[in-house]
Amino acid sequence: MAAVCWLLIHCLLFASSSAHNDFFTSIGQMTDLLFTEKDLVTSLKDYIRAEENKLEQIKKWADKLDVLSAAATQDPEGFLGHPVNAFKLMKRLNTEWAELESLVLTDMSDVFISNLTIQRQHFPNDDDQTGAAKALMRLQDTYQLDTNIISTGELPGSSLGASHQSALTVDDCYDLGKVAYSEADYYHTELWMVQALKQLDEGETSSTVDAITILDYLSYSVYQQGELERALEFTRRLLELGRPDDYLPERKKYEELCRGEGIRMTPRRQSRLFCRYYDNNRHPRYVIGPVKEEDEWDRPRIVRYHDIVSDKEMEKVKELAKPRLQRATISNPITGVLETAHYRISKRRATVHDPQTGKLTTAHYRVSKSAWLGAYEHPVVDKINQRIEDITGLDVTTAEDLQVANYGVGGQYEPHFDFGRKDEPDAFEELGTGNRIATWLLYMSDVQAGGATVFTDVRAAVWPKKGTAVFWYNLYPSGEGDYRTRHAACPVLVGNKWVSNKWIHERGQEFRRRCGLQEMD
Ligand code: OGA
Ligand code: FE2
Repeated sequence: MAAVCWLLIHCLLFASSSAHNDFFTSIGQMTDLLFTEKDLVTSLKDYIRAEENKLEQIKKWADKLDVLSAAATQDPEGFLGHPVNAFKLMKRLNTEWAELESLVLTDMSDVFISNLTIQRQHFPNDDDQTGAAKALMRLQDTYQLDTNIISTGELPGSSLGASHQSALTVDDCYDLGKVAYSEADYYHTELWMVQALKQLDEGETSSTVDAITILDYLSYSVYQQGELERALEFTRRLLELGRPDDYLPERKKYEELCRGEGIRMTPRRQSRLFCRYYDNNRHPRYVIGPVKEEDEWDRPRIVRYHDIVSDKEMEKVKELAKPRLQRATISNPITGVLETAHYRISKRRATVHDPQTGKLTTAHYRVSKSAWLGAYEHPVVDKINQRIEDITGLDVTTAEDLQVANYGVGGQYEPHFDFGRKDEPDAFEELGTGNRIATWLLYMSDVQAGGATVFTDVRAAVWPKKGTAVFWYNLYPSGEGDYRTRHAACPVLVGNKWVSNKWIHERGQEFRRRCGLQEMD
């Protein structure tokens, strides 16, 4: 029984694979395909004609009505005073527009699509296409044909007329290169990528592939063949092309911004940043004493609230956090990072291999001490949470606990996103509250020098000011992450930096995300 089954499967597989594959060598099958294609072109042309007819009728109708209504609206009363006009208006509206509607909705493509569907069963598939590509490269090797000769179609002995001149496009050459690449055949990858690049350089255009992509394949395949110098040269060319005039590695941007250099704000954009008193639509707690809201940045929008938490409250928060920060230092003398059961987006990278010692150590990307404070721990925490909710209009019951962080001299937090990216394992899955929709960052100290919060992608910098909080959305209203929010905490040069963050989550904000805090344009 099993043997019969095996035989059957084998036959099926064999039959289906032999049905294709020999396309390239069977003149009979290939000729059939040629005629099939010819029939399809006829069918396609019929379809185009039908579509044109339809459009012609629609145009006629539009022109007729255009003239008619122009005349009618000149003198509506006079026009409608004529009973025939009145009758025809009724008729048009009641039946003729409906007829037009069905004409507009008529699908003219039926016949063509069904022809195509039927014929497609006999079309070559991906394997056939790959097989044809490989056959071409086999011929190339056997007869030692120059890539350029194949591409221009000027094969020896092919004295066909101009109508048969079959040239390969940039895309064709690139596809051949990719077939070779997927077979780990770097020799042919190189040949065909070089040809694709040559044709691009000669001015041929392509909508699907660019020089950068080709150079990427080239440098890799050359490297695989052991030619490091050439690989490097291709990589250099690639980098040159991929680099806009103002390109800087993120590290450099980060350092520049920390020094207060390279901030990208035009005077025109600057002139549209304002300061205002804000009461969140007459929120009862803020009508009497509205808060001062200042635009820090426009795209993405970052706002700062002034005098939002009192000195007394901040002192209390620090006092509550301090014993835990100390514990953190004890548990990790290098970085002082406290990783509790709470959810840190960078948690997975917190431990890394030290290349010098080979031992596991805690990463230096975040050099600070932190602690988490729950709302139940002290009324001041609850009060601050409430204030965040009142001002942002967002539900904080789904937010993470208040995180308090302290950066000493040299303390920093390298560029990162606060939200979880699609390609990562969902860091917040266990929380069940969705991604981090927004960040609230309260500065609880002034910093004498350094310690800015910088946004490396948009090149913005925000300096700490005690008692002020900055706020931005990490996600677009669609829930997509806003990659412009990439940011970092610069190393403290002189002084000591205290912040507390509130990471607000998606759940609960379905009807809350405030219009006022959307993008400025
Ligand atoms: C963070 C953060 C910035 C800062 O904790 O996620 O980005 O200035 N902090 O401390
Ligand atoms: Fe952050």
